[in-house]
Amino acid sequence: MATRAKTVFYCQSCGANAPKWIGKCPSCGEWNTYAEEVVQVAPKENQWRTDSRKESKASKPRLISDIALETSPRIPLPDQELSRVLGGGLVPGSLTLLGGEPGIGKSTLLLQLAVQLKGKRILYISGEESEQQVRMRAERIGPQQGECYILTETTTQQIFQQIEALRPELVVVDSIQTLYSNVYESAPGTVSQIRGCAGELLRFAKETATPVLLIGHITKEGSIAGPKVLEHMVDTVLQFEGDRHHVYRILRAIKNRFGSTAELGIYEMHGSGLREVANPSALLLSQRDASLSGTAVACTMEGVRPFLIETQALVSSAVYGTPQRTTTGYDLRRLHMVLAVLEKRCGFKLGAKDVFLNIAGGIRVEDPAIDLAIICAVLSSAEDMAIDPACCFAGEVGLTGEIRPVTRVEARINEASRLGFKRIFVSRYNSGLEALASRSTIKIEPVGKVEEVFGLLFA
Ligand code: TYD
Ligand code: MG
Repeated sequence: MATRAKTVFYCQSCGANAPKWIGKCPSCGEWNTYAEEVVQVAPKENQWRTDSRKESKASKPRLISDIALETSPRIPLPDQELSRVLGGGLVPGSLTLLGGEPGIGKSTLLLQLAVQLKGKRILYISGEESEQQVRMRAERIGPQQGECYILTETTTQQIFQQIEALRPELVVVDSIQTLYSNVYESAPGTVSQIRGCAGELLRFAKETATPVLLIGHITKEGSIAGPKVLEHMVDTVLQFEGDRHHVYRILRAIKNRFGSTAELGIYEMHGSGLREVANPSALLLSQRDASLSGTAVACTMEGVRPFLIETQALVSSAVYGTPQRTTTGYDLRRLHMVLAVLEKRCGFKLGAKDVFLNIAGGIRVEDPAIDLAIICAVLSSAEDMAIDPACCFAGEVGLTGEIRPVTRVEARINEASRLGFKRIFVSRYNSGLEALASRSTIKIEPVGKVEEVFGLLFA
């Protein structure tokens, strides 16, 4: 009698499993995410390296001071932005996951790295595109300087055979969702396949000290599709984001075992690949007109770099019954909060108005210091009074309408001053403002409440 294949139900959202189907995942709380997957645990022998090898490497407890301190030098990358986000180059033996929406430029970013990194043998594994397609993309990107091999293969066992033969010094996998290991019987892209394949690549990376970069797709909700377990397995999780219709792309580290997650890389997508933006602070300010109401410039920090960004608001009478609030690049719930503060503390009646908010360049800003500029842009549009284009703002707005201090206020003020702004509004609760004011040419306006700002702006 043939035995039934063993199946397990996996939550496609968080990777939890159960022997039978469940409607609501007890682990992550998502509904209807369980799917049946066949798990086959028998033939292990054609995974990366055989078990016999591993046995000889069985580890014993060792005194921490006895462990040799190996500072393996990082691999410098030609792409300065990527290098900085990784914490100063690529660590040998590291497993990095690059996530992003389809079409944002993940393949372009890593292919660009593969063809431009000199003096290394690189294997670019493409499970999504043909050799021809990859070649054509490489042609757009520019001259090939490195030794980059392309492999269009999706079965991990085949991939490892090729890796053994080629011995690459860097491996790129585009994408983890297309890989298939014949140890697991479920289809590519399912939780057990993704987890299994990533596990095999992880062992390969650690045993051979070869860095591996994985591309991963993102779901509508913005998390890396498939399991969260992937995020726990890898050393670094990078996210590539931006608006597909704009040229700017932002690379963030969400997790980094070898560096900070505060760093950020900025790129521009051109006809010939991605170009680094080395000095982004003035990038999003170019097309300004002094006479337009509804715009305000925020001085935000992304990572450790200050950058000035234009916020735009449009407030108009609601045409339909319920007023609309729409934002791009800013949290909608935060906009609701800001509008409530305006209504309650300053007496502006925005309840019957549509409010549209836009951050220039399609960039998403998480720094709360942008609040003050948002509030000023909304008000400027509501009152139809333009804000002096030489003014900028850096302050978080609290529920009582107070303006809270922001981090690294000195760096922000210096940057605004360097770019030729004449006035900057900051919280009066920031320390050391007097000393700063005596040193800088820009006029610092310390404010404590939202009402004060309007008095100073539109007096
Ligand atoms: P791609 O790297 O394929 O995105 P992903 O791998 O994240 O799905 O990039 C897709 C977009 O980038 C595509 O719409 C075309 C555009 N593009 C350029 O504008 N310039 C270029 O040089 C390249 C290679 C792509
Ligand atoms: Mg791609």
